[in-house]
Amino acid sequence: MTDDLESLHSETAAALRAAADLRAWDTVRVGVLGKNGKLTALLKQLGTVPAEQRRERGAALNRLKDALAALIEARRLELEEADLASRLAAERIDPTLPPRPVPAGLIHPISRTMEEMAAIFGAMGFAIAEGPDVESDWHNFGALNIPAHHPARADHDTFYLPPATEDSPPPVLRTHTSPVQVRAMLRQQPPLRVVVMGRTYRADHDATHSPMFHQLEGLAIDRDLTLGHLKGCLIDFLRSFFGIATLPVRFRASYFPFTEPSMEVDIGWNRRTGELGGGGDWLEILGSGMVHPKVLANVGIDPSVWQGFAFGMGVERVTMLKHGIPDLRPFYDSDIRWLRHYGTTPLAPAMLHEGV
Ligand code: PHE
Repeated sequence: MTDDLESLHSETAAALRAAADLRAWDTVRVGVLGKNGKLTALLKQLGTVPAEQRRERGAALNRLKDALAALIEARRLELEEADLASRLAAERIDPTLPPRPVPAGLIHPISRTMEEMAAIFGAMGFAIAEGPDVESDWHNFGALNIPAHHPARADHDTFYLPPATEDSPPPVLRTHTSPVQVRAMLRQQPPLRVVVMGRTYRADHDATHSPMFHQLEGLAIDRDLTLGHLKGCLIDFLRSFFGIATLPVRFRASYFPFTEPSMEVDIGWNRRTGELGGGGDWLEILGSGMVHPKVLANVGIDPSVWQGFAFGMGVERVTMLKHGIPDLRPFYDSDIRWLRHYGTTPLAPAMLHEGV
């Protein structure tokens, strides 16, 4: 190798050693092998070399090119390895450290119950309907066959609001979710199937009554619905909701102004232990019945063509029974200890109660 080639080799080797990272390395590479690189320049000059030396010079240049390419590639591998090693060192994690606390919120038992109700009735083909908390007297009572001075009004400890004018009936905080039945039938032509979950209000306050509580309401209207459909629907719901395939369910004649016939529904339990299922005792759990023809007529549905069933139950009540919650009042206290105990995690169930 001639001196100039020798020195290009050693000069490049030194520059590569000095290149501390891939950027510096690339500068060296381009400076030698690039379009304007030193070796490229020597190759370009080959044409000016006297003919008798050209062959030998060409061969020497090619050997040098191979040697330099190998040096450059070797340095690249070295730098890449060093780079990976330093990243592995910097990004190392210690899997033995305790995990950071996950600030997960928990689902309130009322929300959870309503989600479960929506899932069960959704699977049976019920859509969800909504209505306002502040209702007209007509939606809450009149359309439901509870006219003014009807004795059933006395059963509802109603919160009345100031009337719009002196002689108009005062609006009310809805005392049940049944006015949403009325709204659903006014909004949609039958056949229809809806469930309503929402807040209801009655002026009552003790360990089992809150002035604000939640109800689930159901309504199905079709041409040939019978008491059998009502019973099947509610038995399926109750067994599914409480997770007891053999839960005894009893239908007992009752009275509601907006259903005829009306039935209260009891489930089997053990009064002494509070356990649901067997035990031989009965617990009243919901009200139901075939929609009264007058109610259908009140919303412009022909009762000689259409009929249906309706039901209503307290969300807190079934939640307390299902989860063995003894007192109603803490539902609304926002006490974080109660919520941690009875709340459900939206994440993996295993995370529940693990100091979250
Ligand atoms: N609205 C009734 C109540 O609040 C429950 C009910 C709904 C009964 C639908 C029958 C049909 O007690």
